[in-house]
Amino acid sequence: MKLPRNHYRPLAIGAPEPLRELPVKAERMIHFVPPHLEKVRAKVPDLISQVDILLGNLEDAIPAESKEAARSGFIELARANDFGDTGLWTRINALNSPWMLDDVVQIVEAVGDKLDVIMLPKVEGVWDIHYLDQLLAQLEARHGLTKPILIHAILETAEGVNNVEAIASASPRMHGMSLGPADLAASRAMKTTRVGGGHPGYAVLPDPAEGTVRTAVQQDLWHYTIARMVDACAANGIKAFYGPFGDFSDADACEQQFRNAFLMGCAGAWSLHPNQIDIAKRVFSPDPEEVKMAVRILDAMPDGTGAVMIDGKMQDDATWKQAKVIVDLARLVAR
Ligand code: GLV
Ligand code: MG
Repeated sequence: MKLPRNHYRPLAIGAPEPLRELPVKAERMIHFVPPHLEKVRAKVPDLISQVDILLGNLEDAIPAESKEAARSGFIELARANDFGDTGLWTRINALNSPWMLDDVVQIVEAVGDKLDVIMLPKVEGVWDIHYLDQLLAQLEARHGLTKPILIHAILETAEGVNNVEAIASASPRMHGMSLGPADLAASRAMKTTRVGGGHPGYAVLPDPAEGTVRTAVQQDLWHYTIARMVDACAANGIKAFYGPFGDFSDADACEQQFRNAFLMGCAGAWSLHPNQIDIAKRVFSPDPEEVKMAVRILDAMPDGTGAVMIDGKMQDDATWKQAKVIVDLARLVAR
């Protein structure tokens, strides 16, 4: 089913109302916590004021013997805290796992009124989204929930990438999509053990030139997938996210990977370590200098049409729209 186009333009003046109730707020980082650990649950009140989205992880990285404890720990932390504007999400186990059904049924029953989004891993096609969509519809009806719980898909299999456009338009519940580079690498038989980020072997050499030493320049392994994901999401009015960056010791490389994703159109990334919260905040908030320039462009063309020169650079209807993306984001972040 193809939905009517609904370009997501936060705070856009005169834009059509979104078909779905996407959160109109900054979602720069989806911060993962393992909810089976009591010491982690104790830190949640502090985290709520630092992150845009807090996600209780039930899937990979949670040992099989702790799956039930993670689920009940998530329910406990959801009940115990007031999340205010901070999004409350959970990543449930995969559809073909023994835990998924109980994850959804028990969590929606217990805290469905507080839960904003379910992140669904290993989505391969529309059938996965339709299953969760129907299940959520039944549970929302049973428990009298009035705010729909949204679905966020992880793009982390070759089959999922093949079907990315269909997944993005699979349901009005779609919130967005995240790249899952670790599972995707395995699914594609890529030869890396890293969780996201680059690889020194994926590089190009400049042409030989006499008297120069040729130094390989690393390329972004994820460029193709991020580009496909961003286009599929933008065309369907939902949000794209870069996923995890597993090397917590390399803050610079994490920042660079996040920045590539930001520039290509992603709204945010996952933070798996507290250090990555500030990196995501910095990267996925617009640069103040860029905001100043964008405001000048908007001011120079109050009705968004025509052509003007600013500092020797041509501005027109298209650059007005580019400027608006940046100013809208600045407003969201300032809220
Ligand atoms: C995330 O789930 C990944 O597989 O990278
Ligand atoms: Mg994964």
